[in-house]
Amino acid sequence: MTVEMHAGLASEGGSKLKMLISYVDNLPTGRQELLQAARMTDDYAIMKVDVRGRACTKTAEFMTASQRRLMSGDETGLFYALDLGGTNFRVLRVQLGGKEGRVAKHEFEEVSIPPHLMVGGSDELFDFIASALAKFVASEGEDFHLPVGRQRELGFTFSFPVRQVSIASGTLIKWTKGFNIDGTVGEDVVAELTRAMERQGLDMRVSALVNDTIGTLAGGRYYDNDVVAAVILGTGTNAAYVERAHAIPKWHGLLPKSGEMVINMEWGNFRSSHLPTTDYDQALDNESLNPGEQIFEKLISGMYLGEILRRVLLRLAKEASFFGDSVPPKLEVPFILRTPVMSAMHHDTSPDLKVVGTKLNEVLGIPDTSLKTRKVVIQVCDIVAKRGARLAAAGIVGVLKKIGHDNAVKDGGRTVIAMDGGLYEHYTIFSECLQCTLKEMLGDEASSSVVVKLASDGSGIGAALLAASHSQYLQPVLS
Ligand code: GLC
Repeated sequence: MTVEMHAGLASEGGSKLKMLISYVDNLPTGRQELLQAARMTDDYAIMKVDVRGRACTKTAEFMTASQRRLMSGDETGLFYALDLGGTNFRVLRVQLGGKEGRVAKHEFEEVSIPPHLMVGGSDELFDFIASALAKFVASEGEDFHLPVGRQRELGFTFSFPVRQVSIASGTLIKWTKGFNIDGTVGEDVVAELTRAMERQGLDMRVSALVNDTIGTLAGGRYYDNDVVAAVILGTGTNAAYVERAHAIPKWHGLLPKSGEMVINMEWGNFRSSHLPTTDYDQALDNESLNPGEQIFEKLISGMYLGEILRRVLLRLAKEASFFGDSVPPKLEVPFILRTPVMSAMHHDTSPDLKVVGTKLNEVLGIPDTSLKTRKVVIQVCDIVAKRGARLAAAGIVGVLKKIGHDNAVKDGGRTVIAMDGGLYEHYTIFSECLQCTLKEMLGDEASSSVVVKLASDGSGIGAALLAASHSQYLQPVLS
């Protein structure tokens, strides 16, 4: 993993790891004052403001009254975020600032995406999203306040590989995770969304386009300065981390002032002859929507673990009459056995493994299984889940090695990895195994300073924070 990271940073197409440049070179900290040197368009007062929109230089006296109010922290910063990347998408609004100078309040809604839209046309998908967003905006209560004359701004978390052109635009490289939509690959996804919003009559500007890993990193860093990387373990899997800008040979732009750049690794596409793949993985990959792609993801993530289990059980049924003389027909249906069901069976601790019995019956139509059969099912769950968890841990160690955080640190220093995703959050055996493997690989001493911190929906808030720090109302001063 570390070797491939170097290769992906060296040149475009240098590795299966795309190591995408995010254009995020300054993460919101929530603590440091200086985030942007900004020029107010009205009276050209040059100010420094932080993400909370508070002015922090003396030039505030040059501001108009409304600007002063705007920047005072009492009524500033309404931002929206939209998170698309799994079977659900989320819309979120965040009021930043307020007297505490933090995320004052936020509200969100989750909408599931009808399966036919995941494999349909681009306009249909974006229209569906924009219309849900428009409804959500229409429900904005008085608790949220948009300063007069301002356009609403949106952080768009789009959790697929995107080649960014700037912080607020980028073209889709390919779909992953069961999405396969005609005519979007190679297009600017911000332009697609903007057109769909216009069709809905929604006046909103996308001010940041980010991957979920980047949103999670930004959200994580806002609350904890020691966050250096973010990992997603959900429907798909991926990681992002803060890289030194001069360690990115393929970056030909201006060196950012911070000297840093956040990289979206797209580690789901990692592959190596060292990966412990089996016939089941091979067949799953061959029959998938994206053969040959996302091999690491297909060994680890929530979209696939249940499907691997199904394939193993199917072979047991066919070749060893595991469920009796005939093969249960439902067991032949791809993706019928979802990872949450696998997790429920795996966590069954009742003496007669009742949950396993019920799930096999309900989901696969296999009644009356013996205790012995149920035990074998659990063993298969264990092998499949732990292989995934151990590989994910190994990936994290690869990232830590790349940034030199894999050794013991003195003086109580910490290395924090912001984690998000339903697989990690809900599949306890998986997350515990990941933690143990990290310890095993790093050793007791080094691992004592490494913290994996669950940041549920950090990515939504992170996207809103990035929308704020890239707001059109804060124009960076060129120095
Ligand atoms: C897939 C996507 C990636 C995303 C990850 C987690 O791997 O390609 O962009 O970050 O899923 O959602």
